[in-house]
Amino acid sequence: MKSISYTYFLLCLPILFSCNTEERVSREVFDNVKRESAVKRISEVQIVEKALAMGNEISDEAQEQLMSTLQNAIEENGLVGALNFCQAEALPIVKSTGSDYGVEIRRVSNRFRNPADQPKADEEVLLGAYEYNHEAGIASEPNIQKLQNGEVLLYTRAITIPGQLCLNCHGDISTDVPADVADTIDQLYPEDKAKGHKVGELRGMWAIRIPRKEVISRL
Ligand code: HEC
Repeated sequence: MKSISYTYFLLCLPILFSCNTEERVSREVFDNVKRESAVKRISEVQIVEKALAMGNEISDEAQEQLMSTLQNAIEENGLVGALNFCQAEALPIVKSTGSDYGVEIRRVSNRFRNPADQPKADEEVLLGAYEYNHEAGIASEPNIQKLQNGEVLLYTRAITIPGQLCLNCHGDISTDVPADVADTIDQLYPEDKAKGHKVGELRGMWAIRIPRKEVISRL
């Protein structure tokens, strides 16, 4: 009932103005109604869809940044040099892509290399679902989960091992990872769990916390 009379009021506004009664409906009231209707017209479905699109775009961009930096580092300094570079630069690269969009980005994994990439409680559930799907051979889609009463939208997306390049540092020690690389990994990451992977396996997931206001400001 409320929304019908509200819509009716909005529909009437142009008529009121065309009748030249601008004095009666002050500019301020008109602006308030306009602002309010702009807020009301955004549905939860639109917010979730936009957050999903933003998450896809941001994770694509962060991934591209990481890949091009990794490839350059390998070309210029070899695998061991690239390892040191990754240790120094991977987190800052991911963070800076996040701050460009006003979001917080993480790459998380239960088989983490950097202990900072262990999943938090709310991420763990989703990572578990991706792991389950992977084991069961079910394709995993990116997902949006509402946190803090919907004030934050948590975007998640599976990260798999796309090719042989990754196995230089994440593959089997006896066949894929050169000995000097394995030694450096042991020195840099004594708790490393990120070796022994095969192409196509789940490596972890993107976890991007998008504030609701950032989504709305882009709608
Ligand atoms: C030159 C070695 C090297 C190569 C090649 C490499 N990585 Fe990594 N990877 C690392 C290092 C080092 C870290 C830890 C970075 C840090 O300390 O923040 C890491 C961390 C990660 C993480 C974050 C989770 C964790 O375990 O800490 C993901 C996800 C990941 N790598 C995926 C990949 C994928 C996918 C590829 C192939 C496209 C790849 N890596 C290729 C060295 C490498």
